[in-house]
Amino acid sequence: MILVTGGAGFIGSNFILDWLAAEGSPVVNLDKLTYAGNLHNLAALQNDARHIFAHGDIGDGELVGRLLREHRPRAIVHFAAESHVDRSIHGPADFIRTNIDGTFRLLEEARAYWGGLPSAEREAFRFLHVSTDEVYGSLEPDDPPFSETTAYAPNSPYSASKAASDHLVRAYHHTYGLPVLTTNCSNNYGAFQFPEKLIPLIILNALNGKPLPVYGDGLNIRDWLYVGDHCTAIREVLQRGRCGETYNIGGWNEKTNLDVIHTVCAILDELQPAATGQPYAALIGYVKDRPGHDRRYAIDARKIERELGWKPQETFDSGIRKTVRWYLDNAAWIHNVTSGAYRDWVSKQYGAEPGAVS
Ligand code: NAD
Ligand code: DAU
Repeated sequence: MILVTGGAGFIGSNFILDWLAAEGSPVVNLDKLTYAGNLHNLAALQNDARHIFAHGDIGDGELVGRLLREHRPRAIVHFAAESHVDRSIHGPADFIRTNIDGTFRLLEEARAYWGGLPSAEREAFRFLHVSTDEVYGSLEPDDPPFSETTAYAPNSPYSASKAASDHLVRAYHHTYGLPVLTTNCSNNYGAFQFPEKLIPLIILNALNGKPLPVYGDGLNIRDWLYVGDHCTAIREVLQRGRCGETYNIGGWNEKTNLDVIHTVCAILDELQPAATGQPYAALIGYVKDRPGHDRRYAIDARKIERELGWKPQETFDSGIRKTVRWYLDNAAWIHNVTSGAYRDWVSKQYGAEPGAVS
């Protein structure tokens, strides 16, 4: 038994599906079901007794304590977070509450539970904290990629809140001996990603004939990792990572946003050409830049490769093709997530006219 937080979100749901296929041991999934949480992601597990869903907040100590005592997990894999940078700019409070205070309360309950375990179980217990490369800040074009010893320099309320949570996790190891592991990963893409993030937003807007909004000059660089590869990396770290260590996870796929958008458009042109006869790239438009927009992220993933033998299996070309295909094949999922709340967000972020670009 393991306890997963945020298992109804993008990466958490991919992780639970991957875990049950690969490991098979049961999962308790604690999720608050915010706008980003979606149990349809786990529809394949509807009749699977190995998935136990608990609706609640990681900041609810009483609930977390009860789940730990009842299910006696051998590990906590902590995904739950507010995860979208643009939302953190519009309203940072939820990010402070969940990412910092929520992680603190989860750590407190984990410490109490772990402290009361018999010694063999205590020895085996792990708290794996899923974090981001954004805690390291922004790179110049010629800087080496982020390593595990790069100094923290978060620039958005989101990345600052994740950095704070990383520090708390580290402190619980050094102060109380809690057996923690931290992973810092680059941009994920794949099935079940909520269409506020770049790749699914571009796919959906293109299919709907809406403008494809590029922030600033479109030359910001991100490192892209297929979500299935991230899930495998987390399993490896959980099983064989050294307590107290952090592991950077990345895809060795540095791309400008314009490169990514043009790639998605070209795949759509091939798989589902627009009824207008125009290439989808004709919809590209430039919009106001994100405030404090980090220019470049890149990950040095040699430590996890050296110590745990993990390497990504997907290239960007193979992963992005699978991803576009998944969105084309899952119209019902898209319909379900593009609710009124989604439309309100699009209008808040991109202007009164949903999808309008300057
Ligand atoms: P997501 O926004 O898709 O999902 C977050 C999930 O957490 C949702 O199911 C939501 O309902 C749940 N949640 C939010 N607040 C909660 C609370 N207080 N209590 C319980 N559940 C709550 O996020 P994601 O993209 O799947 O990211 C998962 C984790 O991975 C996050 O910690 C994020 O910082 C990290 N991460 C994401 C990426 C990426 O590219 N998406 C990259 C590196 C790291
Ligand atoms: O690096 C890991 C991080 O990647 C995770 O920690 C975050 O949870 C995840 O959201 C992601 O953050 P980004 O800000 O990099 O992802 P996003 O998809 O929001 O944006 C990717 C890039 O595309 C970024 O440079 C901003 C740009 N962008 C984004 C949107 C939504 C656009 O140009 N237009 C858009 O409409």
